[in-house]
Amino acid sequence: MSDSTLSVSSAPLVRRPLACVILAAGEGTRLKSDIPKVLHRVAGEPMIAHVIRACEALAPARIVVVVSPANDDLIRAAVAPYLCAVQPAQRGTADALRAAEEALQGHEGDVMVLFGDTPLVTPATLQALQDARNKTDAAVAVAGFRPASPGAYGRLVVDSSGGLEAIVEAADATPAEQALTLCNGGVMAFDAARLGPLLAAVTDTNAKHEFYLTDTVRLARKRGWACAVATLEADDVLGVNTRTELALVNTLFQNRLRQAAMAQGVTLEDPATTILSADTVFGRDVVIGSHVVIDPGVVIEDRAVISPFCHLTHAHLGPGATVGPFARLRPGTEVGEDAHVGNFVELKKTRLGRGAKAGHLTYLGDSEVGDGANIGAGTITCNYDGFAKATTRIGAGAFIGSNTALVAPVAVGKGAYVGAGSVITKDVPDDALALARSPQDIRFGWAKKFRALMRRDKKG
Ligand code: UD1
Ligand code: CA
Repeated sequence: MSDSTLSVSSAPLVRRPLACVILAAGEGTRLKSDIPKVLHRVAGEPMIAHVIRACEALAPARIVVVVSPANDDLIRAAVAPYLCAVQPAQRGTADALRAAEEALQGHEGDVMVLFGDTPLVTPATLQALQDARNKTDAAVAVAGFRPASPGAYGRLVVDSSGGLEAIVEAADATPAEQALTLCNGGVMAFDAARLGPLLAAVTDTNAKHEFYLTDTVRLARKRGWACAVATLEADDVLGVNTRTELALVNTLFQNRLRQAAMAQGVTLEDPATTILSADTVFGRDVVIGSHVVIDPGVVIEDRAVISPFCHLTHAHLGPGATVGPFARLRPGTEVGEDAHVGNFVELKKTRLGRGAKAGHLTYLGDSEVGDGANIGAGTITCNYDGFAKATTRIGAGAFIGSNTALVAPVAVGKGAYVGAGSVITKDVPDDALALARSPQDIRFGWAKKFRALMRRDKKG
């Protein structure tokens, strides 16, 4: 093949400005929940956040979320700063898109419509759909897939040349149409210029008496406008309607996150029990033991090791840090380079300096621990008086004896020692020793006398 042929066939596609509309006004009654469906969590985040993230990867000019008057406030807060359009009554997917028309005014290019309850949708899927619309200059392009059982999905009617003729909703399909296996995944891309007249022409003369967005395909064909299908992976458009589907989607989502982490150079000792978040950031040669839960907001740098049964939320592990087993890192934790957090240690809003160690049974909250400091077993920062939080500062190289209570606000100087069992209420100067416990009293021979007395009493 000559170079010139190659350059012609791989000419870059000019992508037009994109607006994404995410439909989320449905009630989601089958979840039997007081929380709007799209705010149920997948990998630690509301499922609509994943849909938004997939849209963002395409750098759209606008994102609009369609909500109902019933779920309006909660969803608005979750999707901010993106705009919400209110659909007054839930009269179908075309009616939902109509509610967004005002927010779309002045937009020229493509309009992509997605559902808020399909958190597995990927940027690659969305891009393939937009490209399919662009390549054929279709009025409508639809993401098609072949589910294991087509059930309630809309069926795609394709003509002999592969063009899309119509989408028939399951409730309205003839037995022959029911038998079609290519289904509507729910993501559709429109040419903005032709969307208005199509939407205006949709009626509710169908089995459900709803305004179906899917009718736009038939209406476009009637006007002689082409419609296209982009076929994609079934998982990508899996919707959440029940708690069982929520669990399934979570599992599939976790599998993707695990695969991505491993592909990036992270060792997962038991991937099936590692729970990750979509925003977890990993360095190279990180090792994660079994049964580790990583909530949103966690950064793990190179060579850090997390032993089994740890739970991390909004925490940062420096290079070579070691954590666990059985550690709990709460928001605002920073574990410095080569620092160590051991068994049954809880950290909150605490920075452990480089090489510092808190090995056993410790709570450090609202504290600063200097480089190389050693925090003995059972150390507790008393950071809360029932009204306000106070800070504890521990200098570099300080040594805190076991079972110390540090009553904040308090500071222990650099290189200072605190005797085991102390209750520290006053600042300790650099390089000093602080002892704050009752002095030990020795009574020679007391135990022997005591036993003799007890034995005599028993006989008598
Ligand atoms: C829809 C498609 C179907 C497709 C399937 C894929 C239509 C008519 N049918 O069916 O072809 O195979 O998705 O999952 O589009 N919504 C609103 N306002 C409404 C109605 C729905 O915002 O008035 C939102 C829902 O919150 C949901 C989405 O639109 O996110 C889809 O609505 P739903 O009723 O679940 O459509 P399906 O019957 O599943
Ligand atoms: Ca649905």
